[in-house]
Amino acid sequence: MCGIVAYSGSGDALPVILDGLKYLEYRGYDSAGVAILNDGRIETVRAVGKISALEQKLKKQTLKGRLGIGHTRWATHGHPSLENSHPHGTADGRIVAVHNGIIENFNVLKNQLLSEGIAFQSETDTEVLVALIGKYYAGDLEQAVRAALNEVTGTYALAVIARDRPDELVVAKKASPLCIGLGRGEVFAASDALAFIKHTNKAVYLKDGEIATLGPQGLVVKNLQGKKVSYKITELSLDPASIEKGEYPHYMLKEIYEQPRAVQDTLDGRISPQNDGALFAELEKHQEYLIGVNKIVIAACGTSWHAGLVAKYLLEKHARIPVEVDYAAEFRYRYPVLDEKTLVMTISQSGETADTIAAIGEAQALGARVLSIVNMPASTIARDSDMVVYTYAGREIGVASTKAFTTQLAVICLLTVYLGRLRSSMSEEYAAGMLQNLKRVPNEIAKIFGEVEHIKKIAGAFARHSNVLYLGRGVGFPIALEGALKLKEISYIHAEGYPAAEMKHGPIALIDENMPTVVLAFKGRRYEKILGNIMEVKARKGRLIAIASESNDDIDRVADEVIRIPDATESISAVLAVIPLQLLAYYIAVEKGCSVDQPRNLAKSVTVE
Ligand code: F6R
Repeated sequence: MCGIVAYSGSGDALPVILDGLKYLEYRGYDSAGVAILNDGRIETVRAVGKISALEQKLKKQTLKGRLGIGHTRWATHGHPSLENSHPHGTADGRIVAVHNGIIENFNVLKNQLLSEGIAFQSETDTEVLVALIGKYYAGDLEQAVRAALNEVTGTYALAVIARDRPDELVVAKKASPLCIGLGRGEVFAASDALAFIKHTNKAVYLKDGEIATLGPQGLVVKNLQGKKVSYKITELSLDPASIEKGEYPHYMLKEIYEQPRAVQDTLDGRISPQNDGALFAELEKHQEYLIGVNKIVIAACGTSWHAGLVAKYLLEKHARIPVEVDYAAEFRYRYPVLDEKTLVMTISQSGETADTIAAIGEAQALGARVLSIVNMPASTIARDSDMVVYTYAGREIGVASTKAFTTQLAVICLLTVYLGRLRSSMSEEYAAGMLQNLKRVPNEIAKIFGEVEHIKKIAGAFARHSNVLYLGRGVGFPIALEGALKLKEISYIHAEGYPAAEMKHGPIALIDENMPTVVLAFKGRRYEKILGNIMEVKARKGRLIAIASESNDDIDRVADEVIRIPDATESISAVLAVIPLQLLAYYIAVEKGCSVDQPRNLAKSVTVE
C-alpha cells in the first residue's frame, strides 16, 4: 500500500514521476505528492485525493529538475490530509523522503526527537523517520539513512534525497516492495516496476535490509551494517502495452474480458498430451513429499481466500485430502497445529500481501512446507515459498480482483487432478473427464459475455438497493462470497454471502421486497435443494436473480431474473458462475457512478498487517 517512485537522470524528473505514480495509483489514492530538487532547493507539491488533484496543482506551479521522488498514499498513520501527505521533509528542508510501510516504534522515536527540540508538522510515522535521518546527516546521505534505519523497527520501502546531493538518490527496503530500474543515463526506483517499464526493463529487486545509492557512480548496494553486497539485474518481460486500458472504460472491465486468455495461458502446457494428467514440472522434485502429506492448510486473504475455499471443496471431494482454510491473519496468530506432513498452501495475486507473507513464515517455523499459488513472479511470496505454482493472469490493475481469481481456480482444478493422481486417489478416467471439462472453460467464459446486455439491464434495476444477499451451496458457496465481495467493494452496497441452507438460521429475517437475493443455481447434486431455498425467498416477497445453467428451464418460473451460464459439471459451473457476478457488480457500480478501478479506502496490494 502506498506507492513510491523516484528518478535521477539527465531528463526532466517530474513527468516521469507523475506518469509512474499513475501506474501505482492502484496501491492507494488518499493523497499524492512530489518533491523535485532544483538549484539547491527541494520543492514539494502535495494534494489530497487522487493523482489528478496533484496534476491540477502542478499546472499552476512548474517543478523543474533532474532528481525527484513521488508518492501516492493509502493512509495508515494520520487521516488523508495535506499535512500527512508525502513527501515529508526535515524542518530545515535539507532532506526529503517518501515511504511505504509502517515504522512500528515511531512513538518512542518521536518522543525522543521531541525532547531534542524537533517539531513535527504531521501525524505520520514517516516524518519521524525523516527527522531521524536529518539528525544523522552530515553530508553522507547513505550513512545517515543507514544510521536511522538501524534504530527503526517496522517495514519500509524508502526513497530519500538531500538538498546538497543533487545527483544522489538513496533507497532502502524491508518487507515492502521496492524495485530499481537501470536505464541509459537515468535510474528509477519504485514500489512496482510498472512505474518505469516504459523506460527500461532492466531491474534490480532489493532484498530486505538493503540500502542502495543511485547516482553517477552507478548503483551501490549495502546491507544495514554498511557492507557492500552484490545484486542481480533481471530483464523484465512486462509489455508496456499490456498495462494500458485500451478501448475499455475501466481496467476492471478489461480484466473481466481478458479471462478466456488468462485461463488459457494458465492451462497451457499443464495438461498431458493424453489428457489424463496435470503437469507441474515445478513440483516434480517435491513429489515424494506431496505423496506423504496428510493435511493441507490454506492461508490467504480476500478473493484469494475465496479461491482457497473452492480448493477445499475440490481437493476433499476429488483428491480425498483433508483441507482447512484460514484467513492468513488468523492463521499466523492462532497457534495452528502443523508438522512436516502438513502442506500449507497460500494463494495470492500480488505475492506481497503482508498477512500471507507472515503466514508463510509461521508455517515454515512450525515445520510445514509451503506451496504458493501466485500471479506475480519476483514477488516476496514467490521467493519465500518452498514450491510455487504461477497463475498467468498477467498484470491485474483494477483493485477488484477478477482474472486473478479465475486463474487461481484453474490452477486449483489442475492441482486437484495432479494430487489426486499422484496419491492414487483419482482414477485415470476421472482425471481425463475433469481435464476435458477444464479445457472448455476459456470458450465457455467467452460465451457468457453474450449475456452482458441482459446483465446491464438487471444492474440498472438493482442499483438502488442498499443490501443484497448472495446464496450458494457446495462449491457455489465460496462463489456467492466472492460475488458479494465484488459488489460491496466497488459499489458500496452492503452484501453478504451465505451457504443457502444457512439462510433459515438467521439471514432470512432480512428478506423482504427491498432485499434482493442472488442465487447460484447451477447444475449439480444440490440443484433441487437450491430450488427449495429460492421458494423460501419468494415466499417472503424477496426479489431474486438466479445464475443458472442453460438447461435449467424450471428456474424461469421462480426467479425474477435469470442469467445463464453454459451447462457444465458442478466444479466447472462454479468457475463460470463468477463471471456474471463480476459483470453484475461492475455494471451496478457504473450505474451508481462509483470509481470502479479505485474504490474508496481500498488498495490493490495490502502490504501492511
Ligand atoms: C478483492 C481483492 C482483495 C485481494 C486480497 C488478497 O477484490 O482484490 O480481497 O484478493 O487483498 O490479495 P492477494 O491475492 O494479492 O494476496
